[in-house]
Amino acid sequence: MEKLVSSWYNTVKSVPQDYVFPEDTRPGDKIVPILENCPIIDLEEKVPGDRNDIIQQVLQASQEYGLFQVINHGVCGDLIKDTMRMAKEFFNMPNEEKASLYSLDPQKSCRLYTSSFDYAKESIHVWRDVLKHRCHPLEDWVDSWPKKPSKYRDVLGTYSVEVRNLSLRILEMIREGLDLKPGYFGDELTDVQTLLLSHYPPCPDPSLALGILKHCDPYIITILYQGNTCGLQVMKDGQWFGVKPVANAFVVNIGQLLKVVSNGKLESVEHRVVTNSKVPRYTITSFIGTCSDTVIEPAKVLLEKDDCRPLYRAFSYKEFLQANQEHRGEGEATLKVFKIEG
Ligand code: OGA
Ligand code: NI
Repeated sequence: MEKLVSSWYNTVKSVPQDYVFPEDTRPGDKIVPILENCPIIDLEEKVPGDRNDIIQQVLQASQEYGLFQVINHGVCGDLIKDTMRMAKEFFNMPNEEKASLYSLDPQKSCRLYTSSFDYAKESIHVWRDVLKHRCHPLEDWVDSWPKKPSKYRDVLGTYSVEVRNLSLRILEMIREGLDLKPGYFGDELTDVQTLLLSHYPPCPDPSLALGILKHCDPYIITILYQGNTCGLQVMKDGQWFGVKPVANAFVVNIGQLLKVVSNGKLESVEHRVVTNSKVPRYTITSFIGTCSDTVIEPAKVLLEKDDCRPLYRAFSYKEFLQANQEHRGEGEATLKVFKIEG
């Protein structure tokens, strides 16, 4: 527990050595521009025919950026606010209240930890604490969630179901847009939902540390709520750009598995999180993914329709996760393992 950044950050005046990244990976002092053209897609159908237009916007953004924001998404603002409040209350409880959830075992279905998945093996740690738990189906997992704050299970339960439904709605649009079979994302590929609450305390020197290392999400699709505090950055054309927080919007991120299913048509963007010296940042991330035995491969319909060769061989999710760990989450290096050269 004493390793949690929140346990000690306000006792240090400089960044401890084991949080200082080498020059080639640290953020440095360069000013990072905002990704100005990052699409903000309004999901509300106002007149008949809008749906097709929205699908095209989603597809185009997924192809060009691998990431977009959505507004009028149907998840109520009060629920988002309550969920953020729960996250803040959870992380701000005294350590004794959270100690039973703290664990170094990545297999635990609900756990509180700090930095990345393997603190002991990494040489440099990242500046964040995490509460991670499985969600779907709710009744299978909710008993492993925190008992405190007292409304946690109630609020996060509702939030996880609503955000899952939103993920499935967006996937259905992608399915239609790509012309995949009805139900393509119906079961196996979207069986697993994981929720991650991240806490990035203020950091004395954000130019040296990172909140999360450069990575691509190793899932199907991610829905992130980043509140009002900047920190998320994406790599585009070899340069970092900030993703500007938009009130009540969700950031939608195409996962690496979806990139493979779409045979590289959709992009999965490399992103990272930087810290700031002034305010704590809290984010809530929902990942939709699959079980370790599921086979991932480019959709056959797509290959036939476009008369093109598969860019990736079929692989099990287990194999993928292993490659992903070996390459410390880096998207391109991980997918290279499965690429068919030619
Ligand atoms: C993640 C992630 C972004 C953030 O958890 O994979 O990219 O802003 N989070 O917390
Ligand atoms: Ni991510």
